[in-house]
Amino acid sequence: MRMILVGPPGAGKGTQAARLVDTYRIPHISSGDMLRAAVKEGTALGVEADGYMKQGKLVPDEVVIGMILERIARPDCAAGFMLDGFPRTRPQAEALDAALGRAGVSLDAVLLIEVPDALLEERAVGRRSDPQTGAIYHLKYNPPPPEVVARLVHRKDDTIEAVTTRVQKYHSETAPIVPFYLTKGILKRVDGVGDPDVITQRITAVLGS
Ligand code: AP5
Repeated sequence: MRMILVGPPGAGKGTQAARLVDTYRIPHISSGDMLRAAVKEGTALGVEADGYMKQGKLVPDEVVIGMILERIARPDCAAGFMLDGFPRTRPQAEALDAALGRAGVSLDAVLLIEVPDALLEERAVGRRSDPQTGAIYHLKYNPPPPEVVARLVHRKDDTIEAVTTRVQKYHSETAPIVPFYLTKGILKRVDGVGDPDVITQRITAVLGS
């Protein structure tokens, strides 16, 4: 299965990906996680990306496209992958399409997790991540167990200001890739509001398990 998760910031892409990788047994490749790792390591890519990410802006296409195409060319992606957060511009979608075409393969599904804007700020601002396990919590909707609280991380771009920019960028830059995949007949829409377990069931129902 070669698939993409699309949705606004805080839609639940990371939360659902963590559940779906067990079902589909494919690597979860998050462009945001890769960029945050580069920032933490202080690589040239990370230094460049950090300034954009803190403000909620998109990292330039040429930086992200190279990073992801190199990643999906690795052997563990030969049988499939779950891309999360890439592509998020039309040039990224076209670059992915061209690269897959050159490799003689194609996408099976593009899953759009739909959540109204009004819910996104609270979801992002209340998010906390566990750097040891990768688990994603929410102070209200998925509270962390007391023993991990001290080590949790609050993302630099989970501020009200950065989330506002990220939501605007989603509508102006990322939403336009939806018609691109709609015309290919591989777009699947899922309502991302409700209990995460129910959302997982909705996803496996549209994807097949
Ligand atoms: P990225 O890391 O991709 O962030 P994002 O797309 O903004 O998505 P998030 O990680 O914020 O949200 P999510 O949908 O994964 O939600 P989650 O499951 O965590 O990108 C970050 C930045 O990197 C970008 O702004 C950009 O600068 C750069 N970047 C990355 N990729 C790029 C690219 N391709 N091109 C250019 N730049 C790029 O859930 C959120 C919270 O809600 C959690 O607390 C969770 O517990 C909670 N939650 C989840 N589901 C539910 C539910 N059903 N009900 C209630 N709460 C829920």
